[in-house]
Amino acid sequence: MASNSFGSLFRVTTWGESHGRAIGAVIDGCPAGLPIAIHDIQQELDLRLPGKNSYTSPRKEEDLVEILSGVFEGVTTGAPISLIIWNKDAQSSSYDKIRDLLRPGHATFTYLEKYGIFDHRGGGRSSGRETACRVAAGAIAKKILSFYDIKVFAYLKEIGDISMSLTDIADVDILKGLIQKSPLFCPCPQTEKKMIELLQKEKEQGDSLGGIVECQAVGVPAGLGDPVYEKIEASLAKAMLSIPASKGIEFGEGFHAARMKGSHHNDLFFSDEGKVFTKTNHAGGMLGGISTGMPIVLRVAFKPTSSIRKEQDTVNREGEKKKLELSKDARHDPCLAIRAVPVVEAMIALCLVDALLINKTVKMSFDEKACFC
Ligand SMILES: Cc1cc2nc3c(=O)[nH]c(=O)nc-3n(C[C@H](O)[C@H](O)[C@H](O)COP(=O)(O)O)c2cc1C
Repeated sequence: MASNSFGSLFRVTTWGESHGRAIGAVIDGCPAGLPIAIHDIQQELDLRLPGKNSYTSPRKEEDLVEILSGVFEGVTTGAPISLIIWNKDAQSSSYDKIRDLLRPGHATFTYLEKYGIFDHRGGGRSSGRETACRVAAGAIAKKILSFYDIKVFAYLKEIGDISMSLTDIADVDILKGLIQKSPLFCPCPQTEKKMIELLQKEKEQGDSLGGIVECQAVGVPAGLGDPVYEKIEASLAKAMLSIPASKGIEFGEGFHAARMKGSHHNDLFFSDEGKVFTKTNHAGGMLGGISTGMPIVLRVAFKPTSSIRKEQDTVNREGEKKKLELSKDARHDPCLAIRAVPVVEAMIALCLVDALLINKTVKMSFDEKACFC
């Protein structure tokens, strides 16, 4: 199975299956000299944990991360950083009854067609569990971004027909605090209350819901991204659409831009103390595939969780008609978009660090004093 790595210079490879012994990530290309503590990684993983409340999967994983290499006396050495998280609460036997069934909405059918085999115990590589490795690697990327004063945050914007918009963001740290305090990663208590009511209703009926996660990066300098095929939005789109269950991405006005006029969509320039800004940010912080210095704004749509407690028609490996019914105590996320919030944050951080490192290669000095160090 190829393609388990992401990024050009800051390159992350994830490994492991949801019901194997462990999962992990190897980060190749992290510059030496970055101070990093296990706590920096663990606090991010704790945000993604299942079983924290009744709105996420009851699987009880501690997701305790260990650093195996690449960090010495609290500082990165430049060598590959290897991270491991042991799987502790897999309960593989609960999948025995459905081991031969193709699960609607899951990767069982496509894995069987492509590899001739699928891991019936919770999805294997296609499982949401793989995203813990992204969050762990993303924590290291976030640490790098903190030295450049770049802040990223994501929140749950929409579930079903309930939606909220962030208007004025006065202080990103206060906002991040509100997001992290909410069991749904939703910074607006009124919206959160309505979302919880809706979730409760769907859960009782054994069904699931989709959702939209909005993510912003502030403090991003102008100039990140490489036209033509590595446009910053192209890299971000690839990052976000590689998250399991993601189904769409928008930047700035997104699809709404198609219904606007140029006179409304164009972001007008002005300058203040010698620096150029735009009055609005309909473009979502990028032009020509390069960051403008305005916040990068994107939204990712997640489909409703495929594992539901309703009986569904399916077939087995031999193509015989079957019924799939998960047991009452089957463990899954009623709305996986909630737990995707820290994953979206991690993926934007990984993308931005990669773009920052690539940017270090775009200009060289060619005068007589040019030297390599
Ligand atoms: C954080 C996270 C948790 C997830 N948890 C579940 C889950 O409990 N049940 C489920 O059916 N799918 C879950 N998924 C989604 C599946 O992994 C995904 O839908 C499936 O592998 C098929 O891939 P696709 O939706 O990208 O086509 C989760 C995804 C993420 C990002």
